[in-house]
Amino acid sequence: MRLKGKIAIITGAATGLTGGIRGIGGAAAWAFTREGATVYLADINDEMGERTATEISEAGGDAHYVHLDVTNEDLWRGVIGSIVDAEGGLDILVNNAGIGMPDYNADYSDPNGPRDAEEALKVEFTTVEGLERELRVHARGAMLGMKYSVPQMRKRGGGSIINVSSMHGIIGVNTITAYSTAKAAIRHMSKTVAIQYANENIRVNSVHPGYTKTPLALPLFTDPELLADRTSQIPLGRFAEPEEIAESILFLASDEASYITGTELVIDGGVIAQ
Ligand code: NAI
Repeated sequence: MRLKGKIAIITGAATGLTGGIRGIGGAAAWAFTREGATVYLADINDEMGERTATEISEAGGDAHYVHLDVTNEDLWRGVIGSIVDAEGGLDILVNNAGIGMPDYNADYSDPNGPRDAEEALKVEFTTVEGLERELRVHARGAMLGMKYSVPQMRKRGGGSIINVSSMHGIIGVNTITAYSTAKAAIRHMSKTVAIQYANENIRVNSVHPGYTKTPLALPLFTDPELLADRTSQIPLGRFAEPEEIAESILFLASDEASYITGTELVIDGGVIAQ
């Protein structure tokens, strides 16, 4: 019971059904409730989110689903307000919601266009709209989450914020220009906010997953060619399971990490150590 009595919100936590491909947020919701937390799963995928929260509750966890588009400031204000009204406070925020995989099935026959999905994400084919979409969900979403959670954590005498970045928020990459830029923004924002509130015992850290078997990364591990290519980059020789990322998020959320703030936890099977 490492999170006993703690109130948590996890964004992008809709996909957590048993037997399906879980997301990192869905897996974190299971881990947090297993350890005694009350968890609000926030997402835009209402049907899946409701089903995941129901399944966790039926298994004995204290889970609730709330609709939240992380780019919407009014919704953030309302969701945090209603959690605090219902539970009396907020201790943990996980900014996990994310978007970003290319459309692997798009038509790449235009001779002036990108030849494939990987090239489509290089800078010469990146659109302003694409860049702004990534920044909106990842950077603006994380910023708003922290903006409305910090005052509530202050009232509790502290809190823990975990921002889900990526290994590609640390190292350069041959593709995904907009995504990696947005993930790098999250990494630095985490450090900045960590410094701002360390004296109030509000810890802020980022996690940096490598290739993980989630709905978002589906094409990477269902297409044999892409799977072989990505796996060849991973010293541990396999993709992560979402549960393996969730356990690191749990650690940072718990009091075991009471002296850890402003840092980054890389969970990538060794990719960026090379
Ligand atoms: P996922 O698809 O299960 O999770 C993303 C969730 O975010 C979905 O449930 C989606 O509905 C939700 N979402 C998207 N836009 C939203 C919005 N505006 N407001 C609220 N919710 C929104 O996929 P995954 O992989 O678990 O993603 C979780 C986080 O992990 C993301 O931030 C992703 O960038 C990050 N990540 C994933 C890696 C991977 O290989 N799967 C590697 C590194 C980082």
